[in-house]
Formats: sequence, C-alpha cells, structure tokens
Amino acid sequence: MNDIGAFRTEAVARLRASVPGSAIVAASGGIDSSVAAMLSQEALGERSHALFVDTGLLREGEVEKVRATYARSGLKFEIVEAEARFLAALQDVRDPEEKRRRIGTAFVRLFEEEADRRGATVLIQGTIAPDWIESGGQLRDTIKTHHNVGGIPKDSRLTIVEPLRDLYKDEVRALAHHLGVPEPDRQPFPGPGLAVRVGGPITKDRLRICRRANAAVEEIVDAAVRAGTMERPWQYFAVLLPVNTVGVTGDNRTFGAAVSVRIVESIDAMTATAQAVPWEVLRSIAERITRENAKDVTRVLYDVTDKPPATIEWE
Ligand code: XMP
Repeated sequence: MNDIGAFRTEAVARLRASVPGSAIVAASGGIDSSVAAMLSQEALGERSHALFVDTGLLREGEVEKVRATYARSGLKFEIVEAEARFLAALQDVRDPEEKRRRIGTAFVRLFEEEADRRGATVLIQGTIAPDWIESGGQLRDTIKTHHNVGGIPKDSRLTIVEPLRDLYKDEVRALAHHLGVPEPDRQPFPGPGLAVRVGGPITKDRLRICRRANAAVEEIVDAAVRAGTMERPWQYFAVLLPVNTVGVTGDNRTFGAAVSVRIVESIDAMTATAQAVPWEVLRSIAERITRENAKDVTRVLYDVTDKPPATIEWE
C-alpha cells in the first residue's frame, strides 16, 4: 500500500459495490476490525451495523475501554452480551484447534441471528493477510485456524467481505492513524481472546486467574515503558498453563497452576523475538501474580522462545 488516501477511497468504493442493503461488522475493539468498521461506516452509513460481542473471554475492563475508544473515533456500535453462549460452546474442549473452530462457529451463528434481525446479508470482518496465511489452505500448512478464517462454518448464509485482506499489521496501523482511530499502536489481542491463553479446559475460574495475571503483565509493562526502563513490546500477556506445581504459602503446601509470561518484539507478527525484559520487571510481575492469585498460582515462568519455532500465542 503506497498511498493511504487512495487505498481508503478504493476500499470505500469496493464496499459500496459489494454490499447490497445492510451489513453486520464484527468489531472486536482491536485495530483491524476498528479500521474495517470505520471504512464500512464511511461507505454504508446507517446500513453498517458494528457489533462488539462480549464473549466472556475478554481482558479486564475491556468492554469499558472499547466503549471509550469507539466513542472517541465516532464509530456507532452495539454491544452483544454472549458470555453464556461462548462458555457453553467451549465446555470440556481442550484441543486448541477445536477451541478455535467452536469460537468461529459461535461468532458466525450469533452474527447470523443479528443479521436476520436487521435484514443484513453481509458480514464485514477485519481479517488481514497473516490471518489467512496462517490459517492454511491450498499448499499452505495450517499453523492455527484464525477464528475469523478457518473457524467459519461452510454452511454460513452470510457473504463475507474483508476490506483489509491484503494488508499487514504495519499497513493497517498506518491506515488507523490516517482514519483517526485512537491508539493505533496498541498491542493486538486475538479474536478467540483468553480462550487461547487458557491452556486446557476453559472455566470461569480459570479465565478469572488468567485475566488477573494478564492485567498484572499489562500494567507492569506499561509502567516500565512509561518510565523508560524498557522498549514498548509488540505483545505482552500471561498464559495459564494446564500444569500444577508444588508451592509453599506460610507453613502450608500449595499445589497451584503455572503461569507463563510472553513478551515479544515483532514487525508484523509473522516472526517474533522474545524480548530481553529487565530482570526487575519480570520479578515484579512474578511477585504480583503469585500474591494476587495466592493458592491458585504457585509459579511464574518467562517464555524465551522466538517465533519460529514457537508462535506468539500458545494455542
Ligand atoms: P501467532 O500466535 O500465530 O499470532 O504467532 C500471530 C498474531 O496473530 C494474533 N492471533 C490472532 N488474531 N484471531 C486474531 O484476530 C486469531 O484467531 C488469532 N490467533 C493469533 C496473535 O495475537 C499475534 O498478534
């Protein structure tokens, strides 16, 4: 993308041409879908219905943050409350790909219902190039099924439109700057949310532990970046592992979970490097996570693996 203004004009024209009637926009609060929703609103006006789904798999305070960000960017949207539906879809599922497929299906069924209520036939998504590249197909291996690509059931009656399909993250961020989307450089958060950061079964309790540990990582890293102690990472988050380890609290034995901290540098998420985070930052993350989750978490690990051979998310 050499000329952002020209891309915007073309994308708006293409959206007008490809959407007869109304469209639902899957708005996750992230940069990609925010940009897609802004373009859709520009192209279709009142015929564009941006929906933000509260899946119960979101980070701490995420609904309020998204509400504030969308208000600042002038994006009209509605919140759809769907925690029970997503947790039911994920019950007893441990396999990462199965989690992704179930989430993709749950999203699309929900969007189909919302589309029917509004007489819409099109679903606009903020899918970008790495999403479909890593989701496989044709000669490519499936690294992981992105919920918004391979997770979509084949029998969906919605026509999918993806205005950012050929862009990489750095290009989407440039477009976000251009469109006035707030905080275009904020870290990505995967559509399947904390479901791919809770290894093993997904329960409300395990989500709560992961969510709280994640808030500790985000807040401590944000403070360290503000203080100039470290560079702003590409992504920084916590993963709850399906492994229990022995610990000690006072005089008592505990047998709690292990949390892995992932902090990476990257340009476009196709490759990534584990960041050399100052030791004191890591220690304060470990201290806070074990203090706030006493009994539940006995051990905090730092993931030093690059992508490849690992991926950024654990699942
Ligand atoms: P991986 O884990 O494949 O992640 O190295 C690359 C980038 O993509 C994000 N990611 C996703 N984003 N839906 C999304 O919208 C997904 O299903 C998904 N899976 C991974 C990940 O956070 C990283 O930025």
